[in-house]
Amino acid sequence: MSLVTEALRMLRIPPSAPRGIRILDAKRWKWRLDTRASLAAKVPFSDYSASYRFSQEELFSELERAFALRTDREIWEYLESFAADYARSLGLAHGVGTSSGTTALTFALLALGVEPGDEVLIPSYTFVATGLAVRNAGAVPIFVDLSASGPHLDPGQLALKRGPRTKGVVAVHLFGGMSDPEPLVHFCRSEGLFLLEDACQAHALRWKGRPAGSFGDAAAFSFGHTKLVSGLGNGGIFVTSDEEYRRRVRLMRDPEGASPWVIKGGRTPGYLDPLQVACVRAQAASLDRILAHRSELAEVYARGLAEFPLALPRPESPGAHTWWWYVIRTRHRDALATFLMGRGIEARVKFFEPLPRLSAFRDLPGSADAYPNSESFWNEAVALPIGIHLDPSDVQCVVEAVKAFFADRTSFR
Ligand SMILES: Cc1ncc(COP(=O)(O)O)c(C=O)c1O
Repeated sequence: MSLVTEALRMLRIPPSAPRGIRILDAKRWKWRLDTRASLAAKVPFSDYSASYRFSQEELFSELERAFALRTDREIWEYLESFAADYARSLGLAHGVGTSSGTTALTFALLALGVEPGDEVLIPSYTFVATGLAVRNAGAVPIFVDLSASGPHLDPGQLALKRGPRTKGVVAVHLFGGMSDPEPLVHFCRSEGLFLLEDACQAHALRWKGRPAGSFGDAAAFSFGHTKLVSGLGNGGIFVTSDEEYRRRVRLMRDPEGASPWVIKGGRTPGYLDPLQVACVRAQAASLDRILAHRSELAEVYARGLAEFPLALPRPESPGAHTWWWYVIRTRHRDALATFLMGRGIEARVKFFEPLPRLSAFRDLPGSADAYPNSESFWNEAVALPIGIHLDPSDVQCVVEAVKAFFADRTSFR
């Protein structure tokens, strides 16, 4: 049985269906709805299978290509050409595929020259992996609070945190959005520090037309299954235009020789595998459609929620958001989330706990109270469902529920 036949069987699509008909939108949406019926929530936060149906034609042909690779050399070339294409799409010279975003960040920090005991400035609110990568590299994370509007690091506080052992800054682009990179670039250049972009949530993101990941000395992306562009499991990529950084990361990733970089990298093979690459390539081929769909849903939220006492995400630069997540802020976080959950809407709260709260970083000086903007962001943030598994009517259903929430509580307005 060919791979395509097998995939069609799994998706319960008759092999007799002509190829063109299989991708007709009506059918696609019908399969999507069939799958959704089995999910508990009326408006689920995520449905990863939707990514694959959304790009199924591209995925099938990419999987055929990956499984047809015959030799080590062919597999190697498949992986290398993907990494080079990905870097090129960001305007960068080099890409090195890695087994995860955390691996890419850890290798990046080591390649950028971090030594044990060095300090690296990172936001106090981010996904835990940013801080863990700094620790993996043997360095000490020094937390910098978010700006008052959140969710990104406040560049005005960098100088206060810079010390004699500071080697660099990790800027994290959260939820598919970013803030103005210029103050960070300026600070790092004038202080002789590296700037590493944690772009693990920032696929296809642009600031004034320039891709996220291209502002610093290097960047790391994740292709973990939750991401906007993802594999079926884990994956990541390190990107840079610096040939020496590329060389070091390659030595750490492919631990076959006896170079000191192999030892530094922990001698753990860190490859990106062809199956994840096939998934990522398929999604990259339909990225414009994915972004257009998400942006349409974000507009429904922006229009529908404007009249309520909520802080909505407002990209600082037009287009500087891919709407991977739609995160609003409210002082009524728990009441709103409970109300939405009661109506079958899967809103998320308390995600990405501020790092100073986590046991992994408790040995560092400064309690969580020292980062008031991170704390208030964390205490007020609600992530509403968004994604290609939803239609504008689903999002409208969330908007109506928010309306009902505030209608019941006029004192909240
Ligand atoms: C901001 C951020 N940094 C790093 C990572 C780590 O990526 P991975 O899970 O691929 O190791 C993630 C993953 O969610 C992330 O969101």
